[in-house]
Amino acid sequence: MATYNIFLLPGDGIGPEVMTEVEKVAAFMGQAGLASFNFERGLVGGAAYDAHGASISEDHMALAQAADAVLFGAVGGPKWDAVPYDVRPEAGLLRLRKDLALFANLRPAICYPALADASSLKREIVEDLDIMIVRELTGGVYFGEPKQIIDLGNGQKRGIDTQVYDTYEIERIGRVAFELARKRKNKVTSSEKRNVMKSGVLWNEVITALHKREFPDVQLEHQLADSLGMQLVRWPKQFDVIVTDNLFGDMLSDVAAMLTGSLGMLPSASLGETNPKTGKRKALYEPVHGSAPDIAGKGLANPIAMIGSFGMALRYSFGLGEAADMIEKAISNVLASGLRTADIKGDAASYVSTTVMGEAIVAELKALVG
Ligand code: IPM
Ligand code: MG
Repeated sequence: MATYNIFLLPGDGIGPEVMTEVEKVAAFMGQAGLASFNFERGLVGGAAYDAHGASISEDHMALAQAADAVLFGAVGGPKWDAVPYDVRPEAGLLRLRKDLALFANLRPAICYPALADASSLKREIVEDLDIMIVRELTGGVYFGEPKQIIDLGNGQKRGIDTQVYDTYEIERIGRVAFELARKRKNKVTSSEKRNVMKSGVLWNEVITALHKREFPDVQLEHQLADSLGMQLVRWPKQFDVIVTDNLFGDMLSDVAAMLTGSLGMLPSASLGETNPKTGKRKALYEPVHGSAPDIAGKGLANPIAMIGSFGMALRYSFGLGEAADMIEKAISNVLASGLRTADIKGDAASYVSTTVMGEAIVAELKALVG
């Protein structure tokens, strides 16, 4: 049985609580002989700032580089609102993405039938929804230069961010989307704002050419990002794979998360290029939800997005697709049994804690393994 080295970065807020539940799932996988994991633990975000004045230390960056996969909780909170911009909690996450070159962010939005009533949309709109948002993660306005606030000297300041994309960045994320679509419903929707942005014009051109050249068998459509946002809440089941830039992907994936009932449900994978020599790729797995400081430490957090992110690690980093399927099945069965955390409670009379939900998923896994 192979042993995988996983670097845990629980971070801030509810990050550590949901990470604890993942460790239980992983420990069970080990006991059941499905896989074995070596965990190292590090600090990121506000926790890292408190310990050593940086949003992630050089030592912990090196451990992240060396690991087979990084599992990331969440960062940020009001406690660090006043820290300098360069060492704010989010900077740690952005540095991990950039330095590990994790350009492809996969954010699946799946609505389990048991949760269709927890969504703010009608059951028939979201039931059995299964879409994949492919968000470009190392370019665009998040990293473009110049990025600054300049003093104009007349009592005015100017804030500048730069949206910039090169052909190769659009091509490689497009390729990820088309390849995923081939294993799904074979449809890609590409989204940008070519009606106002030059980067959008280029995005559209490059995706169109890539499609013609390498993926003519996949259905491709283009939608302006504002219109796509509207369509996501109008009739989300028209989509299969959505590919878009860093900023639009950030916003649209939060919208997609709510279709599934709660932000607490959405896992994600951030992947680098596959090394042709080793066949390995750098990867970080994190829930789409944030650190939720308002509920931290109260046992109210939903661990499903974090556990689902671990499932994605099994699938995309370790080739353990069957074990990943089993985790998804366990989550689905536990939800079908009526167990709910506070965020997905809907009209139900009661809800369970983070720990009870995590342990119920482990118990269900035990039952599935037999
Ligand atoms: C996300 C988050 C991050 C982002 C923040 C925490 C920097 O919102 O992963 O969606 O904007 O990418
Ligand atoms: Mg976001």
